[in-house]
Order: sequence, then C-alpha cells, then structure tokens
Amino acid sequence: MILLDKVSYQIDIPAGAVQILRDINLELPDGSISTIVGPNGSGKSTLARLVSGLLRPTSGDIRVSRSADVHDVTGVRPGLDVGLVFQNPDNQLVATTVEDDIAFGLENLQLSHAEMVSRVDDVLRLLGLEQFRDYPPHRLSGGQKQKVAIAGVLAMKPSFLILDEATSLLDPANRGEVLQTVLRLNSELGIGIVIVTHLLDEVLVSSHVAVLANGEIVAWDAPRSVFANAKVVEAGDLVLPLSARASSIMQQRWPLFPLCLTPEEFARAACQLS
Ligand SMILES: Nc1ncnc2c1ncn2[C@@H]1O[C@H](COP(=O)(O)OP(=O)(O)O)[C@@H](O)[C@H]1O
Ligand SMILES: [Mg+2]
Repeated sequence: MILLDKVSYQIDIPAGAVQILRDINLELPDGSISTIVGPNGSGKSTLARLVSGLLRPTSGDIRVSRSADVHDVTGVRPGLDVGLVFQNPDNQLVATTVEDDIAFGLENLQLSHAEMVSRVDDVLRLLGLEQFRDYPPHRLSGGQKQKVAIAGVLAMKPSFLILDEATSLLDPANRGEVLQTVLRLNSELGIGIVIVTHLLDEVLVSSHVAVLANGEIVAWDAPRSVFANAKVVEAGDLVLPLSARASSIMQQRWPLFPLCLTPEEFARAACQLS
C-alpha cells in the first residue's frame, strides 16, 4: 500500500517559495484503482511524481509497503515499486526497437541476462506486443507506443502503476484499448492503479477519486459521492457524466430520481418510473 501523511511540496523561485501541494493525506491499498482529478495547475502531476519517487516532499512522509503494515518495507525497492507513465509516449521511448526499449530500464537493476530476457518476453506477451518486438517504436500507433511505455514500467515488477494523463493524446479507440489493458493488469496481476485524468470513463472505473484544487485534496471518495457533491464538482472543475446531468433534469420532475452515472443506470431508473 501507499500512504501519504501530510505531504507538502514547495519550490523556490527568485520571487520566493511557491507552495504546490499542501498537507496531502492519502491511503492507496494494494490492488486498488484510484483517480486523481482537478483543474490544470492544481498539482496532479506533481503529486504523481511524488508518489512515484521522482520528487521528494518538502515535508511529510510517503510510505510504500508490500504488506498491510505500512511500516513493513520488506521487499520494497525505493523508486521501483511505483511506476509512472507520462502523457506523451514519444518522450518516454528511447531505444530503436520495442524490445530494447523495454529492456532499457532493466539495465540498471543488475539482473542476469536470462532474467532480463524472460521479463521482456513476459511483458511483451502480457500486453500483446509480441509481433512488434523488433519494430522501431516511432512506427507504432499512439496506443501501441503507450503500451510499450507501460511494458517498460511493468518489467520492473512494480506494485503500483501511475498513469499521468497517459491516454489524453490518443484517439478514442486507442484510449479505450490502453484503459482496458490497465484494468486487465489490475485484475490479473493485482497491480494497484492510479490514473490522473480528465476523462469520465477513467474516473468511473475507479473505487476512489481524489479531487485536487489549488494543491489541496478537497475530496477523496467514491465517484458517485464526488459527482453528487456540487461544491466538489465546482472546486474540481469536473465535467459531470451526461447521464448525471440528465438525472438532475429528471429530478426537477421526479425528486426521487437517482443520480445515474452511466446510460445503463439511467435507462434502468427511467424504466422504473410510472
Ligand atoms: N518546476 C516548477 N517550477 C515552477 N512552477 C512549477 C514547477 N512545477 C510545477 N509548477 C507549478 O505547480 C502547479 C502545479 O503543477 P502540476 O503539478 O503540473 O499541475 P497539473 O498536473 O494539475 O496541471 C502549477 O501552477 C505549475 O505551474
Ligand atoms: Mg499534469
């Protein structure tokens, strides 16, 4: 699990110190799926970098543990247990073939050659990228490139994967495919997922949503509770699902009409009206 305890982050610029994140408390259980949402500049990417170990908090504590006891750090490898995938796949692919790209990150881990080959084979198979093994990454589609980036992170055997708007530059089909891939890694391997996103589809698959505004967490709750809270929706600059907006129109006539997050829920609720 990942635990953030009163984490703050500030940077020093010539004009003085700028507080980017303030007193962030979060508990992300192993195998959970969470999303981080909030307006541009609210601190989402900074939070993602802190959780993945790329930045250190100015104050407060971040603990990663492979057991329910956050003080038990057995088997935890600092900087490796939480993998980060960025928005633009072109900025994270470095080698001339897919295979070399995935192996690149492993080179500092002092693994045997056999172990490296086996890890690369495993992640290629897991992500359905075997036929692209010898391809130059720049010849792949955006979705395939993002899968290679995920494969590179996955080869490190992290317990969590953080995606920082990793599907936002993709077209809808590629976006859906990458999201399905990530969900499969969660269900099959039990990898914890944190998705920084503006996209509703991604929010709705998570069990908890952290809403950031001005560097503070203003809500940490299930998607349904977040969307039901008008103040949080406003602070987080959230776009309500179309079905939720339709639900509030229905509530003007039928006050007991429930808040629906998907068209299926809306259709079910509408069928029960008499
Ligand atoms: N290295 C930096 N120097 C100056 N300002 C920064 C730096 N990193 C982040 N910021 C500022 O911190 C705030 C949060 O940034 P970021 O975490 O990228 O937000 P988000 O991902 O939610 O858009 C922004 O106002 C951004 O301009
Ligand atoms: Mg960002």
